[in-house]
Amino acid sequence: MTRRPVLEMDATRRALADLFAPIRDELAEAERIFRRELESRFPFVQQLVDHCGDYRGKRLRPALLLLSGRACGAVTGAHPVLAAVVEMIHTATLVHDDILDESMVRRHAATVNAEWGNETAVLLGDYMFTHAFHLAASLETTQACRWIGRATNRVCEGEMQQVHHRGNLDLGEDGYFAIIDGKTAELTAVSCRLGAHYAGADADTSEALDRYGRNLGIAFQIADDVLDLWGDERATGKSLGTDLEKQKLTLPLIHLLAHAKPAATAAARRLLERARPECRRELVPLLEEAGSLDYAWQRARGHVREAIAALDGLPDSEAVAALRVLAELSARRSS
Ligand code: IPE
Ligand code: IPE
Ligand code: MG
Ligand code: MG
Repeated sequence: MTRRPVLEMDATRRALADLFAPIRDELAEAERIFRRELESRFPFVQQLVDHCGDYRGKRLRPALLLLSGRACGAVTGAHPVLAAVVEMIHTATLVHDDILDESMVRRHAATVNAEWGNETAVLLGDYMFTHAFHLAASLETTQACRWIGRATNRVCEGEMQQVHHRGNLDLGEDGYFAIIDGKTAELTAVSCRLGAHYAGADADTSEALDRYGRNLGIAFQIADDVLDLWGDERATGKSLGTDLEKQKLTLPLIHLLAHAKPAATAAARRLLERARPECRRELVPLLEEAGSLDYAWQRARGHVREAIAALDGLPDSEAVAALRVLAELSARRSS
């Protein structure tokens, strides 16, 4: 598949570009470090790396790390390195996640598994994970390696729990929140914690930034799960409906099965058992009728409020204002 050009930035990306303006130089430096670290003397490996480097994600985690640094004091030379590390871990998890979800499109381009097959995608993901730790180990202290290692362990646990619960139509909210706390919120939390710590923040402040990043990550994943059902592939640039195809029960679906009228619940169970991405067309009216979409947004907004509250102790600055808006945006996005 050839790359589809993104002719126009969607509203989410335009908003992010403005928010990232204060850290533009550090983000560009993180990008250079990312590419330099992954360089390979083998043209095939370099082609794979270029494919992932070229396709542009939102750069949310590096931005969180850099803005957290700014919000807590001075951004140092370690910050762009760490920003590259967290983006590398994130990209590795996406490369592997697309194998698990059999996704064909990511960031408006073919996934690695679609273009080169699962074996190559497994190995490229591994290559990125190991490079991320190699890069983190170049810093003077081992704190970053410890924290990133622990967070990545939890991301993997979250993904394993998700695979384990595939097809489990009785998964409850607790199980769902445990999964997304691991697979998504751990990495946003550690990004913010690292940004704070390496800017000289004390333990309480680093903890507050961790709480901010964790709540933002939870809201972000709820929004992602809503987009999987209601989103537009032209805006997200990735395969949607894969949660249904892989029978991953997400918050709107959990709410529907628990609260809809018996006939709607039975219809929803039948649709979920079919495990087809196109079933989202038939599920959406059921979800809207049962108030499940509103419920998911309300839960996401609750986490946005908690994220913003975690910033209360910080002195006002452009970076703190950007973090507040970023939390709002994580639950109100189209891509
Ligand atoms: C996708 O993350 C995976 C989730 C945690 C939902 P992003 O939406 O941040 O992906 P990119 O980096 O912008 O492509
Ligand atoms: C997020 O879950 C995956 C990771 C955090 C690794 P999803 O499977 O929902 O992510 P997308 O929708 O494919 O980006
Ligand atoms: Mg996926
Ligand atoms: Mg998703």
